[in-house]
Amino acid sequence: MTRRGLGGLALGAAAGALARPALAQGAPLRVGLMLPYSGTFAQLGENITTAFEMHLAERGGKLGGRAVTVIKLDDASDPAAAPGNVNRLLNRDKADVLVGTVHSGVVMALVQAAREKGVPLLIPNAGNVAASRDLCSASVFRTSFSNWQPGFGMGKALAAMGVKKAVWVTWDYAAGKEQGEGFRDGLKAGGAELVQVLTLPFPETNFQPILAQLPGLGVEAVGAFFAGGGAVQFVRDYAAAGLRDKLPLCGSGFLTEGTLAAQGAAAEGIRTALHYGDGLDIPKNAVFRAAFKAKAGREADVYAVQGYDAAQLLAAGVDAVKGDMDADAALFAAMRGARIDSPRGAFTLSASHNPVQNIYLREARGGENKVIGVAAEALADPGTGCKLA
Ligand code: PHB
Repeated sequence: MTRRGLGGLALGAAAGALARPALAQGAPLRVGLMLPYSGTFAQLGENITTAFEMHLAERGGKLGGRAVTVIKLDDASDPAAAPGNVNRLLNRDKADVLVGTVHSGVVMALVQAAREKGVPLLIPNAGNVAASRDLCSASVFRTSFSNWQPGFGMGKALAAMGVKKAVWVTWDYAAGKEQGEGFRDGLKAGGAELVQVLTLPFPETNFQPILAQLPGLGVEAVGAFFAGGGAVQFVRDYAAAGLRDKLPLCGSGFLTEGTLAAQGAAAEGIRTALHYGDGLDIPKNAVFRAAFKAKAGREADVYAVQGYDAAQLLAAGVDAVKGDMDADAALFAAMRGARIDSPRGAFTLSASHNPVQNIYLREARGGENKVIGVAAEALADPGTGCKLA
């Protein structure tokens, strides 16, 4: 027998069953972040990343005793490139865990990979309802929201304000459609009606043809989903068209989230519904906002909160298995049962792994989304069609 052969034999016999966990715990944990760092959602991806890394740093850069290597990939919110991008993270970059993304179309490639390969996926924004319904999975977790949740909260709150008829304006893709369905359901629950949905393709910002139609629709309010750069433009164009004082504009909170400085006076008074508000009077929120501002040099927003909580949820899982990612049943059980001490308020996950959370009613005032009430308390996505053992 050659020396090499003997050496191999000796190693195999000595290490035996210990080899895999020892290796798994010694090597850095590879976390693949697939997020938009360009395009209309670039700022959202940046804030998620900054807060995710902030929490890792608070833990000394380690999870479950293992150093963490973060790999970043710009998905540009492009659904067509998504399968190739996921493939790159898994096969070229050898990611052990996937974290992503912002866009509801792009996230489906991540969900598919997580379902097929069992790789853990933490969604720090994209609200596609399928991830919490028909396509839920033991390995898929969300620290953000389902699109239905903020839409429902806004519809319910609007009906409670006495509005009877409203219209929904949005980009023509899953997030806009599903938030509109939540808005419709919330209005209906309060005895009001969604009369029409007006759309334009994502990520276009030529809003003029839609704005021109609004005064003739016979509605008392306009609800909208736009986010990032598109939300800045929509809110400004709405005011410039002279609609602000004629037809109240409201929406899911993304419309005024992380955008108020750029929207200026055009955003003043806009009411939105979201699972977060800047001045939420929760001790964890004050500490978080101060730390984020010190690190990033800008104010935190819901995207930062969701990124921070993705790191907290991952930590709950990886700590429980002491870094052994092969112990996936125990990893997933720990994540499923975690109580996350979030800046939005502590939350747990529903049976389909989506936060059960308050949806706050907010009003934009002086550059802040001020919480003025609770639109829907401890709201869970219905989880229709999700079957998890
Ligand atoms: C989504 O596509 O699910 C989405 C994108 C941006 C947001 C919210 C939801 O701000």
